This record gives sequence, C-alpha cells and structure tokens, in this order.
Amino acid sequence: MHAPTLYTALRVIREEHHRLSAVIQGMLYFVRTIDKGGQVPDLKVFRAMLLYISDYPEKVHHPKEDHYLFAQLRKRTHEADAVLDELEAQHGKGDALVRALEHALTRYELLGRTAFPEFLALVESYAQFYFAHMRLEEEAIMPAAQRALTPEDWASVDAAFDANRDPLAGGEYKEGLDRLFSLIANITPAPIGLGPENR
Ligand SMILES: [Fe+2]
Ligand SMILES: [Fe+2]
Repeated sequence: MHAPTLYTALRVIREEHHRLSAVIQGMLYFVRTIDKGGQVPDLKVFRAMLLYISDYPEKVHHPKEDHYLFAQLRKRTHEADAVLDELEAQHGKGDALVRALEHALTRYELLGRTAFPEFLALVESYAQFYFAHMRLEEEAIMPAAQRALTPEDWASVDAAFDANRDPLAGGEYKEGLDRLFSLIANITPAPIGLGPENR
C-alpha cells in the first residue's frame, strides 16, 4: 500500500490546527501556572491569545472548512453528514465559548482571585472542546474526504485552501494574524512558547 497523497487542503488544515493547538496550550500553561501560584507574563498576553483563537478560526479557518471541504464532501456522499452537522454546529459554539472566556478574563481582572476558578474551568473546557473538534476533523472527515472526493474535486478544494488565492480571508488579514501568532510564541515562556523561561 502506498501512502495517501497529501492534498494541499488537508496539509493546510493540519498546519492551522497545529497553530491553534499551540496557542491553546499557551492558554492552559497560563491558567495552570496562575493556579499553582507561579509567575505568568502580563494578562495582555492572554488577551492576545484570545484574540487569536477568536479571529483565526472565525475569519481564516472555519470558513474554508465549511464552504469548501465540508460542502464538497456533502456533494459526494451522505456518509459523513451527521459528523459534518456536528462540526458546523461546533464552529458556532466555539465562537460563543470564546466570548464567555473573554468575560471570565475581564471578571478575573476586575475581581481578582474569587473570579479565578471560573476562568480556569472555562479555559480547561474550551481546550478540551477544541482539541476534540480538531481530532474529529482529522480522524473522521479527512479520511472520508480522501475516500469520496475525485481528483477534480481536490483541484478546486486545494485551490481554495491555497493561501495566496484564498477569496474568503484577505491576504492582509491573514498576515496580521500570522504576526500575532509570532508575537504570542515569542512572549509565551518556554517550554510552551519561545520566550525566556520564568524563574
Ligand atoms: Fe473546524
Ligand atoms: Fe479545523
């Protein structure tokens, strides 16, 4: 058996999942360190992470999944319809969870320690939710697409995922988010990010 072709669309989804996972790991590091009484960077860093996990999925990642890969898969087979319904609903739910996280962070900033348990619990449940979402896409939808899509389908889906020709995400917008990602990676302490380790 030969290795399956790595289509551009699937490669891009995996890369974007890695970036989102890195930022979510950074968020977990942040709240777990606070929970243990450790030192964390300024809460502005956490705000930047929240902005990233709000804007990147909403503006760059989910629209491509919904409009191209999922839509094409629905045209070819009904085998994955139930999972696709669930994933599309989760895209909306993810946005609502990020809003709840923003509120919890603001309450923590204003009220301090008493508001921390809720903030911690929300970060933990968001991480679990989003990791499970990405796993479902990688383990159920990608293989289903590889089975069902034709070479012509892949040509059009891959073209849509090609960053330079992405009609849904303006290149400039994506560049801004890429800069934000580098910033987050540089200010998040090692071993999660690239910043200096906290002593
Ligand atoms: Fe998704
Ligand atoms: Fe995804």
